[in-house]
Amino acid sequence: MTNEIIKEIENLKQEKNAIILAHNYQPKEIQEIADFVGDSLELCIKASNVDDTDMIIFCGVNFMAETAAILNPDKKVLLPDNRANCQMADMISLEELQEAKRQHPDSEVVLYVNSRAETKSEATIVCTSANAGKIVSSLDGDDFIFAPDHNLGTYSAKESGKEAIIVPEDGHCYVHTMFKPEDIEEARKKHPDAKIVVHPECNDDVRVLADYVESTGGMVRLAKDPEIKELVVGTEIDLATRLKRENPDKEFYPLRRDAFCLTMKLITLEKVRDALKEEKYEVTVDEDIADKARVGIQRMLDLS
Ligand code: 13P
Ligand code: SF4
Repeated sequence: MTNEIIKEIENLKQEKNAIILAHNYQPKEIQEIADFVGDSLELCIKASNVDDTDMIIFCGVNFMAETAAILNPDKKVLLPDNRANCQMADMISLEELQEAKRQHPDSEVVLYVNSRAETKSEATIVCTSANAGKIVSSLDGDDFIFAPDHNLGTYSAKESGKEAIIVPEDGHCYVHTMFKPEDIEEARKKHPDAKIVVHPECNDDVRVLADYVESTGGMVRLAKDPEIKELVVGTEIDLATRLKRENPDKEFYPLRRDAFCLTMKLITLEKVRDALKEEKYEVTVDEDIADKARVGIQRMLDLS
C-alpha cells in the first residue's frame, strides 16, 4: 500500500512538474520521499531557487509554505494539510508589532521567520534560528525589536551584544520550552560520553547547560563531525530520525521523548498524494503584503 502511494506521488510529481520540500521535523516517510529536507533557512534558500518547477508541495507548517509563496508568486505552493500551523507564528499580531514600532521608532525590526506574512511585511529583516545572531549583528543600532520568540530574541541579543526589545513578552514554542535543566542533568548521567545539543528556542537555563546551541540544520552538520559519536538532541523528536538515517553508526538520544510538534505530524503520504492530485491546499499571500514581506526575506537571503 505504502509503495503504491509512493509510486503515485512519483508519477504525479512528474506530471505536475512539482518539487517536494520538507522540514527536518517531518515524519520519516515524508523525509524519505522529499526532494529536499532542511531547516527553515535551507528551505528558504531552496525555495528561492526552484525556477524549473511549476508547483511546490511544502511538507511543514504554514509560515514555511507562505514564505515559499512569497518567494514564488508565479508558482502554485501547496500545504498538504491546511491545519498545519505553528502556534508561535500566530503569537505576534500586526497591531502589536506596529505598536512596538511606534514606541521605538529608531529601532530596526528583526522578525523570526516563524511568523505570518502580514507581520513580515513590517520587518526590516527576517531571520531564522540558524542566523539570528549574524542578522542582528549586521544592523547599525544598539538595540532591535524582535518578534515573536522570546528565547531566540534573548539568544540573538547575547550573540550580538545588542539589546533586544522583545514582543510579545511571552512568545514561545511549546515544544522547546518543555525542556528543563533536569532533563540535561539526567541525560548527562545516562549518557556520560555523549555531547548535548539544544535548539535556540529552548529556555536560557537549558541552553547554558548544553554543549552546543544549534538550529536543526546546525545539528545535522554537527552530527557528521567525526569527533561526535553520541549526541543528545534537544529539539523536536523527528530530527533524531534524520540524524540516525544519515549517521547509522552513531547514537542519538532525544532529550525528551515527548517533544512532538503535533502540527508537523499532520502531513502524511496520503495527503501528499492528494495535494498533488487535487492541487490542494493552495497557500496564497496578498500581493501587497507579499511585496513588502519579500524585502525582509530577501535581505536575509543576501546575507546568507
Ligand atoms: P529550524 O530553523 O532550526 O529548522 O527551526 C524551525 C522551527 O520551527 C523550530 O521549532
Ligand atoms: Fe512552531 Fe515549535 Fe512546531 Fe517549530 S516546533 S513549528 S516553533 S510549534
